[in-house]
Amino acid sequence: MERLQKFIASCGVASRRKAEELITEGKVLVNGRKVTELGVKVNPLKDKVKVNGQLLAVEKPVYYLLNKPKGVITSVTDPQGRETVLDYIKNEKKRIYPVGRLDLNTEGLLLLTNDGELAQNLTHPSKGVEKTYEVRVKGRVKEDDLQVIANGVPLEDGITSPATIVDLGFDDHNGVHEVEITIHEGRNRQVRRMFEHFGYRIHNLKRIAGGLSLSGVKRGGVRQLTQREVNALKALGDKK
Ligand code: URA
Repeated sequence: MERLQKFIASCGVASRRKAEELITEGKVLVNGRKVTELGVKVNPLKDKVKVNGQLLAVEKPVYYLLNKPKGVITSVTDPQGRETVLDYIKNEKKRIYPVGRLDLNTEGLLLLTNDGELAQNLTHPSKGVEKTYEVRVKGRVKEDDLQVIANGVPLEDGITSPATIVDLGFDDHNGVHEVEITIHEGRNRQVRRMFEHFGYRIHNLKRIAGGLSLSGVKRGGVRQLTQREVNALKALGDKK
C-alpha cells in the first residue's frame, strides 16, 4: 500500500506537493470515489486512480542529466516560445520536468526526470543537497569578501548558511577571478546575490556538481543516468 499523493507523484503527473493539492481540491477519484483527505493509502497494482478524469498507470522512471547552455529557460513550456531545457531531451514521450532550476544565464548541471518522489526529496530545503558552482567574476575578488561568502552573507531573505569556497585565483589575461563555491541551500539566484552583495559582476556561472558530476557532458549535451547514480541520488534524497 502506498500513500495516494506518493502514488500520483510516481506516475509522473505531478510533484508530491501538487498531488496533495489535487487531492484536497477534489480532483482525484479512487475506484470511482472522490478522495479529499491526505491520509488515504492505495494499492498501485489494484486500485484505479483517476486525476482530472485521467486513469493513472505506473510509469517507468527516467533520469536525464543535461549540461544546460546559457539562454535556455528551466521550464517545461514557455509562453513566449523561447527554447526550454525540454527541447534538449529528444524522443522522450514521458512527462519529464527539471529538478530545481537554473537561471536563464546560468549554465551547467540539471537533472530532468518523471520521478516526482525523487524530485521532491532532492529539492526539499531540509535535505540540503550540496551543489557546486564555478563562478567567474569580472575583476579581482577580495579575500575578506570570500571569507564572508564562506561564513554567511546577509541577504534580504536572511543570512546564507556556511559555504565551502575554493579560490582558483585571478587570471591577468582576461581579468576574471574564478571561485568554486559549494552551497546546500537553493534560494532564488543565490550565488549571484552572494557575490552581487559586494558589488561584484558575475561574468559566468556554471553548476558543475550536485549529487552528480557534469564531467564528460559537453554544453547542450544530455545523457541518461546510470542505475548507480540513481541509487546514489535516492540515498541523498532519503537522508535526514
Ligand atoms: N545560483 C544562482 O545565482 N543562479 C542559479 O541558477 C543557481 C544558483
